[in-house]
Amino acid sequence: MFLKTYFTIVPIVLLFVSTFSIADTHENFVQCLYSYPHNTSSSISSAVYTQANSSYSSILDFSIQNLRFSNISSKPLVIVTPLEVSHIQATVFCSQRHGMQIRTRSGGHDYEGLSYVAEVPFVVIDLINLREINMDVENRTAWVQAGATIGELYYSISQKSKTLGFPAGVCPPVGTGGHFSGGGYGFLMRKYGLSADNIVDAHIIDVNGNLLDRETMGEDLFWAIRGGGGASFGVIVAWKLKLVPVPSTVTVFRVERILEQNATEIIEKWQLVANKLDEDLTIRINMGRATTQNGNLTVQAQFESLYLGRIDQLIPLMQKSFPELGLVREDCSEMSWIDSILYMAGFTDNQSTDVLLNRTQLNGLSFNKGKSDYVRDPIPNVGLEGLWPFFFEDEAQSAFVQFTPYGARMDEISESETPFPHRSGNIFHIQYGVSWRDAGEEEAQRHINWIRRLYSYMETYVSKSPRAAYLNYRDLDIGVNSNGYTSYNQASIWGRKYFKNNFNRLTRVKTKVDPLNFLRNEQSIPPLMLKGRK
Ligand SMILES: Cc1cc2nc3c(=O)[nH]c(=O)nc-3n(C[C@H](O)[C@H](O)[C@H](O)COP(=O)(O)OP(=O)(O)OC[C@H]3O[C@@H](n4cnc5c(N)ncnc54)[C@H](O)[C@@H]3O)c2cc1C
Ligand SMILES: *[C@@H]1O[C@H](CO)[C@@H](O)[C@H](O)[C@H]1NC(C)=O
Ligand SMILES: *[C@@H]1O[C@H](CO)[C@@H](O)[C@H](O)[C@H]1NC(C)=O
Ligand SMILES: *[C@@H]1O[C@H](CO)[C@@H](O)[C@H](O)[C@H]1NC(C)=O
Ligand SMILES: *[C@@H]1O[C@H](CO)[C@@H](O)[C@H](O)[C@H]1NC(C)=O
Ligand SMILES: *[C@@H]1O[C@H](CO)[C@@H](O)[C@H](O)[C@H]1NC(C)=O
Ligand SMILES: *[C@@H]1O[C@H](CO)[C@@H](O)[C@H](O)[C@H]1NC(C)=O
Ligand SMILES: *[C@@H]1O[C@H](CO)[C@@H](O)[C@H](O)[C@H]1NC(C)=O
Ligand SMILES: *[C@@H]1O[C@H](CO)[C@@H](O)[C@H](O)[C@H]1NC(C)=O
Repeated sequence: MFLKTYFTIVPIVLLFVSTFSIADTHENFVQCLYSYPHNTSSSISSAVYTQANSSYSSILDFSIQNLRFSNISSKPLVIVTPLEVSHIQATVFCSQRHGMQIRTRSGGHDYEGLSYVAEVPFVVIDLINLREINMDVENRTAWVQAGATIGELYYSISQKSKTLGFPAGVCPPVGTGGHFSGGGYGFLMRKYGLSADNIVDAHIIDVNGNLLDRETMGEDLFWAIRGGGGASFGVIVAWKLKLVPVPSTVTVFRVERILEQNATEIIEKWQLVANKLDEDLTIRINMGRATTQNGNLTVQAQFESLYLGRIDQLIPLMQKSFPELGLVREDCSEMSWIDSILYMAGFTDNQSTDVLLNRTQLNGLSFNKGKSDYVRDPIPNVGLEGLWPFFFEDEAQSAFVQFTPYGARMDEISESETPFPHRSGNIFHIQYGVSWRDAGEEEAQRHINWIRRLYSYMETYVSKSPRAAYLNYRDLDIGVNSNGYTSYNQASIWGRKYFKNNFNRLTRVKTKVDPLNFLRNEQSIPPLMLKGRK
């Protein structure tokens, strides 16, 4: 439906974009937004928030998902919450004319706050109002605007079909703008790949303010935004998704084993089978601190699983492939796929599907820091045993390490098919997370140091040259751009960890679509051959 209205809006004034920036005030920027020829019904004045607007803070804070970035001084001069495409075009145009950078925000889950924090004068384009979802059940596709969350997408699918799903993340408030452009995975990854692997078209506003679809943007740019991150290339307005079949009944379980219940040995065995299991079966492991019955500290491994089938089929499969876990029928529950989404998101029994529309995190906000790794050879027991003591340290009270199995569909897709290169050869992916509740720089440093030490310990056991990382678990520790010109070599330090050899193609696409590097942040793709230009 919104498809039609998109293409009737013509970016008439965009020829006037100047290539150098003047240190203008944001008042001039706002004036520019107002005088841009919006050919529309919704007034841009109801979408523009300067720091003087009484709602500025609530709009800014609403999608901040990490308290580490909630109180900092580097806030946007203006927030624009576009109600239609021309509001994005105006912001892209006027920010270049008036010397401001842009940060685009969808769900605000970026681990380093890059969608709403910057050290330069900037404007946030917050897509919260662009969240329309149009399902085409007959053709098994959907158009999703980039401000929609994955929870809203799951909800919309469930309203139309019990046997269609989409492979994406676990936490419902995650935004489709960032999540899909960085990869996007959850419990359907082994069967269907990433969210990015199931995108068939997109609408993007480029740096010149043009609205492009797959055909007009070309295959290079369309390739880049499916795993290379959206922020380097434009503002993604909407995605067209290929929905995937799911059975009307699926099975879930969560089974906990502590060290005293041979957790280490069970994890050792899991590493040998997890990526080779039936494609319908995904078992991931969440590890964290626990206490034994007599009050001693221990480590607990929670085996969390979705099986695209029924208990009767799952039990013999587990007895054959992974008897060490000792799974029994009573551990398992059958439910619809949409209820498995609620289950994995942590909702308890019989919640209404409506909770997926709630954009607030279930367990409230915390200060947090994350990191990631890939594992290509099983971690020996001695490696695991060296990991456990980290959980007994003070800083690890709410820390976790999560192992997510690859294999199946992930092995079939080539490394260069999308910018996301972590395919065949990876047994599993690791996410490390630490969170804390008390404000202050000292608290932050203590916890960040803890996760850095853990990461350093793990070096021996994970992928090397490069030590690979997942873009959606953004980590500025692995390298950043300069605030100005960044050489290819400098950007390669972090770029090759996220993208391996695909980094080269990403820089070529960037050079073509944004040669002056207007769209930039601490880990944006730099254009090539701009030596000497700031
Ligand atoms: C609680 C939590 C749970 C998570 N669970 C999962 C999970 O299960 N699986 C998984 O794969 N990942 C998961 N993630 C990571 C998540 O996929 C990334 O943080 C993702 O980038 C978030 O997208 P967003 O739109 O919410 O974030 P934002 O912070 O809004 O955006 C992230 C990045 O994308 C850019 N961007 C956003 N929208 C657009 C757009 N429309 N056009 C261009 N650029 C854009 C931003 O500028 C920023 O650089 C989780 C993160 C959190 C905090
Ligand atoms: C834009 O304005 C022209 C002329 O007034 C009108 O014909 C056209 O329908 C408008 N388009 C939209 C999307 O409103
Ligand atoms: C913010 O304040 C300006 C100036 O008072 C006003 O023009 C604009 O409409 C306000 N924005 C919103 C969304 O209320
Ligand atoms: C399905 O796709 C075909 C071809 O693109 C199109 O003609 C048809 O209208 C679509 N079906 C629906 C229900 O939109
Ligand atoms: C742990 O393994 C040992 C040795 O294989 C075995 O004797 C013991 O029963 C196991 N403990 C549990 C709780 O499974
Ligand atoms: C619990 O800790 C005490 C003191 O460290 C130790 O003596 C005891 O063996 C531990 N119990 C178990 C079950 O590990
Ligand atoms: C959930 O609903 C089912 C069936 O409606 C019911 O049997 C069960 O007791 C409910 N569970 C809870 C915790 O309310
Ligand atoms: C949304 O979820 C939060 C956190 O669980 C809760 O506090 C809030 O009441 C919910 N809002 C609505 C409208 O249900
Ligand atoms: C933000 O700052 C205020 C005032 O300095 C303080 O009271 C509050 O606790 C801080 N909040 C966070 C999340 O740091």
